[in-house]
Amino acid sequence: MLKETRSLELKEAITFDDVLLAPQLSDITSRTEVDLSTFIYTSSTDVTYAKFDLPIISSPMDTVTEEKMATCMSKAGGLGIIHRYNTIQAQCEMIGKVQGAKAAAIGMTGDYRERAAALFEAGARILCIDVAHGHHTMMERCLGELKSMLNNSVYIIAGNVATAEGYSDLADWGADCVRVGIGGGSICSTRLVSGHGVPTLQSVIECYHENRAADIIADGGIKTSGDMVKAFAAGADFVMIGSLLAGTSATPGEVFHGSEGKSYKVYRGMASSAAQKDWRGKSSSPEGISTTVPYKGSTEDILADLKGGIQSGCSYSGAFNLGLLRANCEFIRQTSAGQNESYTHILR
Ligand code: XMP
Repeated sequence: MLKETRSLELKEAITFDDVLLAPQLSDITSRTEVDLSTFIYTSSTDVTYAKFDLPIISSPMDTVTEEKMATCMSKAGGLGIIHRYNTIQAQCEMIGKVQGAKAAAIGMTGDYRERAAALFEAGARILCIDVAHGHHTMMERCLGELKSMLNNSVYIIAGNVATAEGYSDLADWGADCVRVGIGGGSICSTRLVSGHGVPTLQSVIECYHENRAADIIADGGIKTSGDMVKAFAAGADFVMIGSLLAGTSATPGEVFHGSEGKSYKVYRGMASSAAQKDWRGKSSSPEGISTTVPYKGSTEDILADLKGGIQSGCSYSGAFNLGLLRANCEFIRQTSAGQNESYTHILR
């Protein structure tokens, strides 16, 4: 019997290290002149919902964001989303303690309706439907339910997706913002385990071209402020980070001391075996790992450096804000020799 023939024309996909931004004529005299403020609106109204001076979001992971990180992010002008791997009561108590923008994650099965209602009651006005494969029929149902249950009075982030179709569907289903990126995170093994994923920058480029109102969060694989600048230039409204904040003072968990006087903290994927055992008592087919990272000290200092780096990036593109960065930027592709040159190569 003849096998059905189908096209195997392969699309190319690029990510952060494949590209650079070519410097442009600039009249910015100090990078502090660059304004990174980002406004959000809900799909039901065009009235400004919130303003962020720093478009960085800390990931809803149990080794990244609880109330201390969320408050720290908020004070720096960004946003922290309290993870959902806890009881509803514990998550609501954390939300109650956050000063500033209050955001929390929920799932799309199990207790998500009660959790969403309780979080709303506790003051959360930004909810994140946080699932590994967000381009799913259950997401359509969940978005519809939450929109009507909370009477359009929350800003809803949904994800994750990796394709333009995924982004557009979630936008059509009512998401105000979509988390874009599958399998690119530093602790992810989804691509190895499942063979699926798309390099994060490619996903952002393709979603941005859909030209929809839903905001875009570039999520997974962001290693430097330079990667953030590339993500914003490609169309992201926000970047979400885990590893860049892992091991800093505001993350949950103890600092422990290893040999030679070095200090560490744990950073783990939420689908890692260790995390699964903690939040659901067993582990199967892990799609992430758990590791330790060197203790990095003050979260505020790390955020200040990242902010300065993004402002510097805008200044190289002659852009006083992120909208102008998107308009002025010129991406170039670099060779592997170019990539080597781009690293601080005396250390290699
Ligand atoms: P970075 O690179 O900032 O990535 O450390 C953080 C993002 O990784 C995602 N995440 C996971 N992805 N398995 C995955 O495939 C996991 O166990 C896992 N845990 C987190 C998530 O999108 C996060 O923001």
